[in-house]
Amino acid sequence: MCGIVGYVGGREAAPIVLEGLSRLEYRGYDSAGIAVLDASGILTLARDVGKLSNLTSRLEGAYPPGCTGIGHTRWATHGGATELNAHPHVDTAGDVVVIHNGIVENHRELRDELVFAGAVFRSETDTEVIPHLIARELTIGLNLEEATRAALQRIQGAAAVLVMRRQEPDVLVAARIANAGGVVIGYGEGEMFVASDLPALAGHTRSVVFLDDGDMVRVTATGATYSRLSGEVLTREPQTVDLENTAIGKGVYEHYMAKEIAEQPEAVLDTLRGAAQFDPPAVFLPGLGLDDDAIASLSRVVVIGMGTSLNAAQVGRIYMEQLAGLPAETDNASEFRYRRPIIDGTSLVLAVAQSGETVDTLEAMHEAKRRGARVVAICNTPGSQATRIGDGTVFLRCGPEVAVASTKTFLGSITALYLLACYLGEKRGFLTGRRLGQALDDLARLPQLIGEALKSDAATLAVAERHYQSEHFLFLGRGPQFPVAMEGALKLKEVSYIHAEGYAAGEMKHGPIALIDAAMPVVAIAVKDDHYTKMLNNIDQVRAREGKVIAIATAGDTLLPEKAQDVIYVPEAPTLLQPLVTAVPLQMLAYHMARLRGCDIDQPRNLAKTVTVE
Ligand code: F6R
Repeated sequence: MCGIVGYVGGREAAPIVLEGLSRLEYRGYDSAGIAVLDASGILTLARDVGKLSNLTSRLEGAYPPGCTGIGHTRWATHGGATELNAHPHVDTAGDVVVIHNGIVENHRELRDELVFAGAVFRSETDTEVIPHLIARELTIGLNLEEATRAALQRIQGAAAVLVMRRQEPDVLVAARIANAGGVVIGYGEGEMFVASDLPALAGHTRSVVFLDDGDMVRVTATGATYSRLSGEVLTREPQTVDLENTAIGKGVYEHYMAKEIAEQPEAVLDTLRGAAQFDPPAVFLPGLGLDDDAIASLSRVVVIGMGTSLNAAQVGRIYMEQLAGLPAETDNASEFRYRRPIIDGTSLVLAVAQSGETVDTLEAMHEAKRRGARVVAICNTPGSQATRIGDGTVFLRCGPEVAVASTKTFLGSITALYLLACYLGEKRGFLTGRRLGQALDDLARLPQLIGEALKSDAATLAVAERHYQSEHFLFLGRGPQFPVAMEGALKLKEVSYIHAEGYAAGEMKHGPIALIDAAMPVVAIAVKDDHYTKMLNNIDQVRAREGKVIAIATAGDTLLPEKAQDVIYVPEAPTLLQPLVTAVPLQMLAYHMARLRGCDIDQPRNLAKTVTVE
C-alpha cells in the first residue's frame, strides 16, 4: 500500500528520495514525508498531508541537507490522514526514524507498555510503536541493526520497515515480516537504494536483491549485508532486472488511465509474444513449473484474486472448463484463505495478481501450498512475492500499470489465462491439434480487435456526456460477459464514485429490477453470442420499467438501436475472447464519466494500487 524509498551514498538524498516517491505515489497518497540525515547526525523531517506534490512544492529549492534519507507515501490504516500521522515517525528523543508499510496488529498493547515506560507518542498510528521499541533496545547497547531485529521480534502482523538513526548516519536498516509488500535493495556505484517497488529505482540501477519474508538488511553506501530476523547470516547475490519500461510518463495523455487503456493492444500482444506460436500451433510457458505428469494428474482448478484480478479470474474459470476440460471454480482470495478449502495435490490454484503483492492473494497461495495444491501465479510484476511463492508463473507482459484503476492488466490477465488453458488443454489431450490451432488463431486476431474496440471512444464519450450526472448504474452480462459487467461496474465506482452494480443478467429479475426507473441507466452487454436473445429479453424488461439502456453491441447489429437509447459498437470477436473487446468501452465509459465529474482519475480517493494490508 504505502510507498517506501531510501538512499545512502554520496549525493544529496532528498531529491533522489522525492523522485523515487513520485514513481510510487500510486501506492498511497494520503500524505507523504521524508527524513534526511547529514554526516554529523543532524536530522531533518518534512511531512505533509495529501499528495506528494504538497510536500515537494513546500521543499522546492530548500531540500533538507544530507546524503542518507528515507521517504514514504501513505495509505492510512491507523489514524487519519494528518501531518502528525504521516511517516516518518520517531522515538521520544528523535533519534530513531522509521517508515513502515503494513499493520502492527498488537500495537495497542505495545503502546500501553511503552507509554508506561515513559515513551512520548505523537501520532495515532500503529507504526509509531516501532521507533519507540527500537529506541528501548538501543539503550542496552545494541546497534541499529541489532535493535531493529530485537524490536521486530515483538511485532505481530505485517511490516516492511526502513529505519535510520542519528547516531549511525551512514546506515539504513530494512526488514520485511509477514507479507507486508516488497522490499528491494538497489546497488549503485558508491550508493545504495531501498524501495518498496522497482519503479523507484529506474534510472539509478538494475542490480537488485529482493527481501524475502523474515529477511533483514543493513545498507551502507558501499553495499549491503543480509540476515534473517532470527539472526542467521545470509548471502544474497544481486540479480539484474529489466527496468526499461519502468521510467514511464503519461506521454500525450492527460491521465495514466487513458494511456493504459490505449496501450491494451500492445499489452496483449506482448503477453502473447514468445508464448503463443501460430504455425504449427503451440503454447510455450517455460516458467509454469508444472511437468507433464503434474498436468495429467490435475482434477480441478481454483482461480483466485481480488478486485479486477478476481473479475479476470472469473473469465479464466470459463477458459479452464472450455479449453482445458477441467472443473473450475473461482473465489476471492480473501475468502479462499479462510474457508479451509478442500484441495490436494491434484488441485491447481491459479492466483491472479497484477502486482504480485496483494496480501490476501499471497496468503491464499501459502494456504493452498500448505494443503499440497499446485500453485501458479498469473502476474505482471517480475520479482514480486507471488512469483516466488508459487510453483511457477505465467506473466502478463503489460509493462507497469500506474493508474490505480486497473485496465491493461485486466486484459493481460485474461490473455495469460487463455494461454494457460490452451496449454493445459493440449497437454491433457482435451484440445486436439485442430481445436488448438483454432483457439490460437482466434488469439492472434485479438490485438487488432482490441484496437478496433478503442475506436468507440467518441461514442463512449457521447454516452458519458448524457449520463455523467446519474448517481446509480447497473451493468448486466451473461456467460463470459458477466465478469465484464462486474468489471464495468467496478471501474465506474472506482474512478467516478458513481454507485454501480454488476450482475449476471439472469439475476436481474430476482431483486435488482426493483431499482430500475427512469433515473437508472442500465449497461447491457448484448453482443451476438449464445446469450444474445436472453439479453434482448433483459433489455425489454428494463425498457418496460422506463430504465435507460446503454447497449454494448456487435458491429452491424441493427436491432439494438430500436431497443436501447444508446448503443456502443464493438467488433465481432470469438465468444471466448469477446470479454477482452467489450471491456474496452466500459473502461472508457468510466474514464469519461470520471473526467466529466472532475474526479481524480489516476488516484481515486481511498484507493491504493497495491493492497498489502488485510
Ligand atoms: C481495480 C483494482 C483493484 C485490484 C486489486 C488486486 O481497478 O486495481 O481491484 O485489481 O487490488 O490487485 P492485484 O491484481 O495487484 O492483486
